[in-house]
Amino acid sequence: MDVVVIGAGVVGCTVAFELAAAGRRVRVCDPRPPGGGASFASAGVLAPYVEGHDSRPLRDVGRRSLAQYPAFVERVTAASGLPVAFRPIGTAEVATSEADISRLARSKATADAEGVTAEWLEGAAAREAEPQLAAHAAGVLHIPMHAAVDVPALTAASAAAARALGAEFVQTAVRGFSAEAGGIAVTTTDGVAHAPQVVLATGAWSAALAPAGAEPAPVRPIRGQLLHLVGAPDTLRHIVWGPDIYLVPWTSGTVFVGATSEDVGFDERTTASGVASLLARATALVPALAGATFAAARQGLRPGSPDDLPYVGPSAVLPGLVYACGHYRNGALLAPLTATLVARLVAGDRSDPALALLAPSRAGRL
Ligand code: GLY
Repeated sequence: MDVVVIGAGVVGCTVAFELAAAGRRVRVCDPRPPGGGASFASAGVLAPYVEGHDSRPLRDVGRRSLAQYPAFVERVTAASGLPVAFRPIGTAEVATSEADISRLARSKATADAEGVTAEWLEGAAAREAEPQLAAHAAGVLHIPMHAAVDVPALTAASAAAARALGAEFVQTAVRGFSAEAGGIAVTTTDGVAHAPQVVLATGAWSAALAPAGAEPAPVRPIRGQLLHLVGAPDTLRHIVWGPDIYLVPWTSGTVFVGATSEDVGFDERTTASGVASLLARATALVPALAGATFAAARQGLRPGSPDDLPYVGPSAVLPGLVYACGHYRNGALLAPLTATLVARLVAGDRSDPALALLAPSRAGRL
């Protein structure tokens, strides 16, 4: 075995695919089946100019990863035989106050300066873009480049593609790892695995796995609850991003409503208050959603990092260990780039400039 990937979320599975595609022998370890954590609750919004309003590094890596998406999905589908919906439908970010209008004007100026198309629409033009928006919506910032991806499908297809290329998935919990001659010993509940290189892609659980002599990665769980509403066909044309709410129209009238942002530790529950607040905000912004069928509530623990950027890079403490964790709100967005960077790191190539932005060393002795 060449590489043990710890974690089978969207990051672990896409990393495993890219490593297997590069000819590595890969084992993925996770106590849950692929996509059984936060990836299951993702609405798949790929929107660097929304999520990265105030973060040039996040916009830079997010834009680069988004540009990789069409070809990445095509490769995963070709290797797995499984379709993955990728929908470049754009975002319409809604202003409902003067403060929102000013903020979105700044966002438009940023997008303009960085060569990204962004149109400010108000009045009749805003209604034409999104006819179902509530009357208090003053305008929208439309960014056509943004997209949505079916994250559970992408995770499943990446796992299947990795398997088709020889990777094995083992449902086991990793207890720790340590240096040994020629690589790393990974202790699991089912025995010890040995590999020259290990990728830590354990999402919100990453702080629990620090090598001896290293600080834990400062990653902590931030719960997000997400609703599925169905039966509201043609309600929305874009991903609609409002104050404290976003709505993602999916096929056949499904709308994802996201998401709460809750600092509640490892509490993986959907709650009455979470569902109630999402429904109230969603129907305030798009009243027609009140007639939709409530299909499901999901939750996932986002892997929050102090600067909202992931840690992707080699450990300074344990040779052979590569971090790929702490993606916070942008695991799906940054998955293709993370997979590319990790595959290059495993091949010994540390030259990519994005690694400077994402270096684990910015958080201390990692
Ligand atoms: N990226 C959206 C969220 O984390 O809710």
